[in-house]
Amino acid sequence: MATLLYVESSPRKRRSASIEVAQAFLAAYRRLHPGDTIDTLDVWTTPMPEFDGSTLDAKYAGLTGVERTPEQAAAWARLGALAGRFRAADKLLFSIPMWNFAIPYKLKHLIDVVSQKDLLFTFDERGLNGLLGGKKALAILARGVEPAPDWDHQRGYMDLWFKMVGVTDVANIFVEKTLYGPDVDGASRAAAKAEAEALAARF
Ligand SMILES: Cc1cc2nc3c(=O)[nH]c(=O)nc-3n(C[C@H](O)[C@H](O)[C@H](O)COP(=O)(O)O)c2cc1C
Repeated sequence: MATLLYVESSPRKRRSASIEVAQAFLAAYRRLHPGDTIDTLDVWTTPMPEFDGSTLDAKYAGLTGVERTPEQAAAWARLGALAGRFRAADKLLFSIPMWNFAIPYKLKHLIDVVSQKDLLFTFDERGLNGLLGGKKALAILARGVEPAPDWDHQRGYMDLWFKMVGVTDVANIFVEKTLYGPDVDGASRAAAKAEAEALAARF
């Protein structure tokens, strides 16, 4: 039985296009994989440490090979607990609104918290080695308009992060023009939900 980690990053909840498409995916996925575990991580309700003080010191102690103080070790354990949810998953699902042509700050906060050496990657003189290899990922990307490729730092950033942590099997579903009125928004959501339901069978 597999575990799917679902990272939800829109605060719009019932009005959110990315969540609506993710829920269509999850409904189909649950029907097709009734024994699997789904772990939901909502970045708007999950407590995440600020990256300063003992949390920051814990990171640099690890990078420089200095033993962590008990306070730093406790801070590191908090990062490890969140990163552990990524390591424990076989599959990763993200629903992501485009904010200022990139991702919402709460999702970046989560990424900054969990993306740590020895938790999600290692590095040495040969370079960066992601520790999440072998996992599948799906990113559902909602956008108010249809951004030109060179303005799109939402997909590009997530692609880079997946690479950084070693995930190579990545699919994207786009739900675009959600700000163009109910007809365009409705058609865009319906097309993305159909794509998501079809993908659930192969995920
Ligand atoms: C703070 C903020 C910034 C936004 N910036 C952009 C943007 O740069 N480009 C864009 O196409 N849409 C932008 N939008 C519109 C959202 O991407 C759009 O409403 C999308 O449907 C959000 O996803 P959601 O419906 O899942 O919340 C922005 C919305 C918010 C709240």
